[in-house]
Amino acid sequence: MSTNQRYTGLIEKYRNRLPVSETTRLISLGEGNTPLIQLNNIPRLTGKHVEIYVKYEGLNPTGSFKDRGMTMAVTKAVEAGSQAIICASTGNTSAAAAAYAVRAGIKAFVLIPEGKIALGKLAQTLMYGAQIIQINGNFDAGMALVKEIADHAPVTIVNSINPFRLEGQKTAAFEIVDELGRAPDYHCLPVGNAGNISAYWKGYKEYSSESHGFAPVVGNRPVMCGYQAAGAAPFIDGAMVDNPETVATAIRIGHPQSWDLAWIAQKESGGWFDKCTDEQILAAQKMLSEHEGVFCEPASAASLAGALRDISSGKIPEGSLIVCTLTGNGLKDPDIAIKQCIATHPVTIEATLDAVKKAILDNM
Ligand code: F0G
Repeated sequence: MSTNQRYTGLIEKYRNRLPVSETTRLISLGEGNTPLIQLNNIPRLTGKHVEIYVKYEGLNPTGSFKDRGMTMAVTKAVEAGSQAIICASTGNTSAAAAAYAVRAGIKAFVLIPEGKIALGKLAQTLMYGAQIIQINGNFDAGMALVKEIADHAPVTIVNSINPFRLEGQKTAAFEIVDELGRAPDYHCLPVGNAGNISAYWKGYKEYSSESHGFAPVVGNRPVMCGYQAAGAAPFIDGAMVDNPETVATAIRIGHPQSWDLAWIAQKESGGWFDKCTDEQILAAQKMLSEHEGVFCEPASAASLAGALRDISSGKIPEGSLIVCTLTGNGLKDPDIAIKQCIATHPVTIEATLDAVKKAILDNM
């Protein structure tokens, strides 16, 4: 394979749509270019005629969609001469920030809510060697501190309030349109801090605008559907939530920073916000694994949980092409996965041929 065919990350791929120049040093781990998997079995289970695809962002280098934003944010931080980055995080942003900081040779500080981030995310962030600062408070408290500290220390904020994050993340919409040859009718995704729904909408709008020269003929822009966890649902409650709670720790957020942008996405696209209970989220996570072989983390499954409910009620009509973003890899949160499967825990037997044979025949 010649070098110009090798995939080297989303900035290189979409560089004419991103704020980089010929001389910008790109900080990349080959992120983006994630699979858009068509679901084979779940649509049949709904009893409705719908096409559902999942954009499996768990296959990014650190296992979540955050890598798309982080390659851009860290590239621009380095270009501006920054020696250190900082973020508050429910886990995935911290893992991505840590990895891209290493790649760039700069320092990463991450503020995480103590005891409230999934084990895999903690392991990653530790391994990448970031300076972890655990706080006795939730993500929103960490976010407030990060916004203040930037005036007191030479650190660049790489949360999604950094506009370069959304620039990177909008490329997921480009990839979907490139692959389908059109935009989906409905785009469903989990909403926490609300950066991602805002970024997708930006991407779809940019790609469909005539000034870019190749508006898709059908399916110009999707209806954006944002789903929150019931215990952390400020967009549905219509007001900030001070003590958000959900099993989907990635979206345990009550004061979303991209509040205005996300409302614009909802209004301009004719979309909606809705909430899913923890039970619905976990059921959708299990369903995806069990029926499609796709393992995502709990927060990610909110997109499918919401979509399935809206397909069932007819709010998303038959004949629709739907894309659900699966924001993070299921391996990030082994605790919740194992707890969910406790009823089907492994059988333990003697290490003999007879016992193995019996275990197979008993379970056929
Ligand atoms: N899904 C996952 C797996 C996430 O990690 C996040 C956000 C979201 C969905 C929500 O995306 O915030 O753009 O609306 N995680 C952030 C973090 C807050 O710190 O990792 P959003």
